[in-house]
Amino acid sequence: MASQVVSVINGRAAQDIPAGTLTSVNPSLLTDVVAEVTLASAGTFAAACAAAKQAQPAWGDVPAPVRGRAITAMGRIVEANKEALARLVTRELGKPYGEALGEVQEIVDTCDFFLGEGRRLYGQTVPSEMPDKQLFTFRVPVGSVAVVTAGNFPVAVPSWYLVPALVTGNTVVWKPAEYAAGSALALFELFQAAGLPDGVLNIVLADGEATFAGLEQALQAGTLDKIGFTGSTAVGARIGELAGRHLQSPCLELGGKNPMVVTPSADLELAVEGALFSGFGTAGQRCTSLGTVIVHESIHDEFLAQFSAAVSAAVVGDPARDVVYGPMLDQKFATRFEEYLGWLQPHHKVLGSTGMGRISAANPREGFAGDPDAGLFYHPVIVDGVQAGDALFRQETFGPIVGVMTYARLEEAIELANAPGYGLSSAIYTSDPREVFQFRRGISAGMVSINNSTSGAEAHLPFGGNGKSGNGSRQSGIWVLDQFTRWQAMNWDYSGRLQKAQMDVAELAADLDFRLST
Ligand code: UN1
Repeated sequence: MASQVVSVINGRAAQDIPAGTLTSVNPSLLTDVVAEVTLASAGTFAAACAAAKQAQPAWGDVPAPVRGRAITAMGRIVEANKEALARLVTRELGKPYGEALGEVQEIVDTCDFFLGEGRRLYGQTVPSEMPDKQLFTFRVPVGSVAVVTAGNFPVAVPSWYLVPALVTGNTVVWKPAEYAAGSALALFELFQAAGLPDGVLNIVLADGEATFAGLEQALQAGTLDKIGFTGSTAVGARIGELAGRHLQSPCLELGGKNPMVVTPSADLELAVEGALFSGFGTAGQRCTSLGTVIVHESIHDEFLAQFSAAVSAAVVGDPARDVVYGPMLDQKFATRFEEYLGWLQPHHKVLGSTGMGRISAANPREGFAGDPDAGLFYHPVIVDGVQAGDALFRQETFGPIVGVMTYARLEEAIELANAPGYGLSSAIYTSDPREVFQFRRGISAGMVSINNSTSGAEAHLPFGGNGKSGNGSRQSGIWVLDQFTRWQAMNWDYSGRLQKAQMDVAELAADLDFRLST
């Protein structure tokens, strides 16, 4: 059965004239319509921001420990609905059920982390340089926040924004990916069940252009104080530009071309396992997915043989079964993936499957689980012989494709790892601690894995990137608090006179020429 998804603003279904409709379909069974979506216009988006702005002062006045209790309830409600939500994520996005359960767990983990923040939203008391004066700092909510998210993590990544934003006293307009609308509405309903007052959390379904225009209208009207965006580098740059014109710094979580360096001292089996999971898990559709393996020339042939055997043996297919990966998330990702396959050059050698492109009865994949013609399934691709000038090396290629190239010295590997200009996640497989720290120092990525894959970050470490992967903002853990609060400094002089900082400060007589006589 398809769910009907409409925007909900101030606790009510948006009544305005819709900007269009679309359906969200099951990518592993294209005849299965998961959600029928009514799209909102830019004006509706801006109206949602206005509603959030209006609701914010009262939500900000709810004592933080009480807001923390709402987060406790959200986590418990999600946990109690774990299987149902995971099943929906598998049906709508084609994520293997085991991974979908992990994704829902990530929401629970995020709630577990932030529920205590309601009682720990610490400021500081700071000594003054003058007597009878005290200094303080307070965390203040930024106000109303628009959160625009992708559909590859349709519920976990949104929770990384929604949960800390709400506990710190902000109100939210959430614009999920249209192709993940059913899962988004389910998460919205689960969060609403925690008793959030109307207007505190709003959901708007809109296409990219309406969203952008709505953001612009709200910024101009002064009803939007912060944008959080997870998606492509190109759209992130547009959002950064728009926010910058309004003197705001958005929280941007963008693409990645995540490198994995495999050194001669690496445990090859472990490296192959990591490359398989991060390259092909979620059909390579994570921002943390592996882009290029940079393997030492002395072990290249052995690594490639093992990697290609592992990928060839990986079960692809129906995400309800025990598979390494299922379909592409949506037709638009399938179309784009086919474009990336067009970047292959004569100097490339392709391995990993019994065919290339879309898997079908006519273009079969050995060991496929289920009916390939029912969905958007693609052969995994290993591309050996990648060179620094290749588009395949320089650009993110969202999908089941991994490049392989060689290096001679670690400095060269680090240079190659940084060369595409992204900087989200990275990995090195080595048993040499000197190489570990040389890599950590040299790599431009926000996240570094040692003997672990590029994907699968835990929910309480800073998550985010640099360069084309973001503007340095970090999500998760204590670090995201700086995205959703601003520091306010207060000084209180109770001396009864005007004491001037830097000028009316007592000085102790120090003898700076003092030296020991020995
Ligand atoms: C994303 O793809 O946008 O680290 C996020 C990981 C996941 C999150 C990925 N926990 O791979």
